[in-house]
Amino acid sequence: MRGKARRVWLAGCSAWPQKNRVSDPDYIPSSIARARNIADLRHMARERLPRMVFDYIDGGADDEMTLERNVSRFRDIELVWDALANVSDIDTSATIMGAPSASPFFISPTATSRLFHPRAGELAVARAAHSAGVPYACSTLASTSVEDIAAANPGTKWFQVYVWRDRALVTEMLARAKAAGFSAILLTVDVPVAGNRERDSANDFTIPPRVTWRTGAQALAAPHYLWDLMTTPEIRPANFAHMKIDGGLIGFINAQFDRTVTWQDARWLRDSWDGKLAIKGIATPEDAQRCVSIGADAVWVSNHGGRQLDTAPATIDTLPRIAEAVAGAAEIILDGGVRRGSDIVKALALGANAVAIGRAYLYGLAAGGERGVRRAIDILDGELRRTMALCGRTRLSGLTRDLIFRRTLS
Ligand SMILES: Cc1cc2nc3c(=O)[nH]c(=O)nc-3n(C[C@H](O)[C@H](O)[C@H](O)COP(=O)(O)O)c2cc1C
Repeated sequence: MRGKARRVWLAGCSAWPQKNRVSDPDYIPSSIARARNIADLRHMARERLPRMVFDYIDGGADDEMTLERNVSRFRDIELVWDALANVSDIDTSATIMGAPSASPFFISPTATSRLFHPRAGELAVARAAHSAGVPYACSTLASTSVEDIAAANPGTKWFQVYVWRDRALVTEMLARAKAAGFSAILLTVDVPVAGNRERDSANDFTIPPRVTWRTGAQALAAPHYLWDLMTTPEIRPANFAHMKIDGGLIGFINAQFDRTVTWQDARWLRDSWDGKLAIKGIATPEDAQRCVSIGADAVWVSNHGGRQLDTAPATIDTLPRIAEAVAGAAEIILDGGVRRGSDIVKALALGANAVAIGRAYLYGLAAGGERGVRRAIDILDGELRRTMALCGRTRLSGLTRDLIFRRTLS
């Protein structure tokens, strides 16, 4: 190629990534607005991301049975409705761990969100949550610091923690979260060791990514993503930027994950934090009662989205007995497999006070940054409202077990 044709081609190449820049506040990918449901956003995320990054979001542990079950068990539940109920005024407003929320769901913590959109990352998610009026939960392994997230989101923010080997580091993080305005902490208890995610090893995927022929080829096939990755700061655990971290995120996890952690440490955390506390990753009524006995404000029914113990039951299956055991002594949060507003109705009808969403917003983030996350939230909120109207119930308190037609759950 020579002369004018080459100049036109080069100009096109340099303009191309900018045309799609989500950081441009006026730029709205029309495809995002056209996404009808979370499945559409997932499809768009798959198109935009290198395969290894898509698989990191989308995948689960081992044979991915729990990942699949979390979704499919919602589908097994049938809803019935009250006919001829006046549904002209639907109200989805909720209070979750003492905070007002426009809807009974919120953003679940996910590590290194800049991986899924290097330019937008956590800031985009935090802004979208704030503009939609739902709480934002930040992962301890976020790729943006708690201070920067707080500057982007003056609304309700919660901070997810692990009990690190270095307890002083935990105390330091609690103080930083408090100073930045985070009103609750969420202790994740389903990661005594990392789950076995075989899609990651098949893709040679690590954080930060290593360059191999496989990762290189996948990245070249996603030029917008690669452009963003190359023109933004390195993706790392930003809350620990002041520490020397060898071996990237995995090195940090290996150095800090403490396999000796027990309920005594959870109690220590309770005593170290004077705000709200949720315990995330509960699968049995007995552990739910332990949460209550150490003074947790919320029991969070979760299996980490099927990323930890494979063959664990779907969260919607473990929820009813846990709710029964807790009997109102703490709030119940559920996550795992929520992809439709009707899933939220089912979770509330079976005993949850609120629902957390993970992949549903990550697909939106990957597909279109802040607007993609907002679209995911709006889709779920719209579906929730429509399902409530179709069920003849106008208030969240009206989402009760009698809406469930046939309980195939144990
Ligand atoms: C890519 C990814 C990263 C995650 N990172 C964290 C994390 O750092 N801390 C945590 O407690 N949970 C983490 N989770 C689990 C979510 O908070 C949530 O429990 C799970 O995604 C819910 O399932 P769902 O994706 O089917 O909605 C992560 C999930 C995904 C998909």
